[in-house]
Amino acid sequence: MTSTRLALASAALALATTAGMLAVEATAKTERASPIYGVTIPDGYRQWELIAPAQEAEPLNELRAVLGNTTAIKAYRDGKLPFPDGTVLVKLAWKHVQSPEFEPASVPGAATTVQVMVKDSKKYASTGGWGFGRFIAGQPVDMAQHETCFTCHEARVKGHDFVFTRYAP
Ligand code: HEC
Repeated sequence: MTSTRLALASAALALATTAGMLAVEATAKTERASPIYGVTIPDGYRQWELIAPAQEAEPLNELRAVLGNTTAIKAYRDGKLPFPDGTVLVKLAWKHVQSPEFEPASVPGAATTVQVMVKDSKKYASTGGWGFGRFIAGQPVDMAQHETCFTCHEARVKGHDFVFTRYAP
C-alpha cells in the first residue's frame, strides 16, 4: 500500500516536472516567434536540402542559401504549384567575404539573417498562405520589417506562389 502510494506520488511528480518543462519550452518558443505571423526558426533546418544559392549586391553584399523541408523539396522536384501546406523554406545569409587563401573566391563571412516562410493556407490566408519570419542572432526582428515581407514577394513573384527561389539545376 505504502509503496503503491510512493510510486503514484513519484509518477505525479514526474508528470508535473514534464508539464513544467513543456511550459517553459513553450514560453521560450513564443518569445522567439516573429511578430504578426508567429513563425519560429524550425528545428533541424541546417540538415535540410539545398534549393539554391543566391548572391545579393551592395549595400547588403551577401551570400545566401535557400533550404527546404521534405515537403518543399518534393514540391520543387514535382514542379508543384502552389506549394502544399506544411512547406517550409529557410534562407540563410552571410556577409560576402573574399577568401583569405585564394583571392578570386568568395566565402561566407559573419551570419546576418535567417528568414523563414511557412505555408499554411488557412492560417495565413490574407498573405497568400505564407507566414514570414526574419531573425537576427536567433531573435525575430520588429513588426515594421515584417510588414514589408508579403508586399515585396507579392509584387514580384505572385505568379510563382510568392516564392522567388527556383530549384538550382
Ligand atoms: C524588397 C523585396 C523583399 C522583401 C521586403 C522581402 N524579401 Fe524575401 N526575398 C526577396 C528576394 C529577391 C528573394 C530571393 C532570394 C534572394 O535574393 O536572396 C527572397 C527570398 C526569400 C526567402 C526564400 C524563398 C523565396 O521566396 O525565394 C524567404 C524565406 C524570404 N525571402 C523571407 C522574407 C521575409 C521573412 C521577409 C520580411 C521580413 C522578406 N523576405 C522580405 C525579396 C524580398
